[in-house]
Amino acid sequence: MTAETRSAYVPALGYRALTAFYDPVVRLTTREHAFKRGLLDQAAFQAGDAVLDLGCGSGTLALMALQRTPGLDLTGVDGDPAMLSQARAKAARSGATPRFDESLAQALPYENARFDAVMSSLFFHHLDRASKLLVLLEARRVLRPGGSLHVADWGRAANPLMRLAFLGIQLLDGYVNTADNVEGCLPELMQEAGFEQARETRRYSTVFGTMSLYHARTAS
Ligand SMILES: C[S@@+](CC[C@H](N)C(=O)[O-])C[C@H]1O[C@@H](n2cnc3c(N)ncnc32)[C@H](O)[C@@H]1O
Repeated sequence: MTAETRSAYVPALGYRALTAFYDPVVRLTTREHAFKRGLLDQAAFQAGDAVLDLGCGSGTLALMALQRTPGLDLTGVDGDPAMLSQARAKAARSGATPRFDESLAQALPYENARFDAVMSSLFFHHLDRASKLLVLLEARRVLRPGGSLHVADWGRAANPLMRLAFLGIQLLDGYVNTADNVEGCLPELMQEAGFEQARETRRYSTVFGTMSLYHARTAS
């Protein structure tokens, strides 16, 4: 990572000192299991599918996916070695064998059309608009024609209370990075990056605001 990307990099809970507490905080505050189960219901992966988890963090979503569909060819990628250590330790305890790679999502170390699906949770709100677009272009590049993108992240606030609740995330993770999320712009950005049929598919109310699921496809 260059000094410039390091300073723009938003760690899992906004501050590196909080990384060790990531799993319990997310479990207690985001209805994590409900929305991650919802994302996996939407994805309906089949054994043998090649799936990439972007910004996989401590690996919870990747491990849930493997538990549900044991034959997945699953790769998680994240820019933070501390989060990847947590992910590898959890995978070893569960007996699952996903591959976890360290890389920035703006320049993925995978060949074109390597994956059937790309998924991601709680990741895009860490990126400013230019980086969101770069990452979406990379996601499109590594997806096969007709591949799927499944995203769970903070979305347009469902009501004023949810908007107020979201201020906590903005304080932790930054106003600029999170603005596109709370304004509901992720589907527009997916379309701008060349995805088709980008749309919000479901919403969850949480103590930190509205969590949205999204789906988009690459052209066949
Ligand atoms: C809030 S955590 C989400 C982790 C996990 N997906 C989950 O649902 O719990 C965001 C993750 O994105 C990673 N991240 C932030 N910017 C990144 C980038 N540009 N490239 C790769 N990973 C990044 C952080 O290291 C962190 O692990």
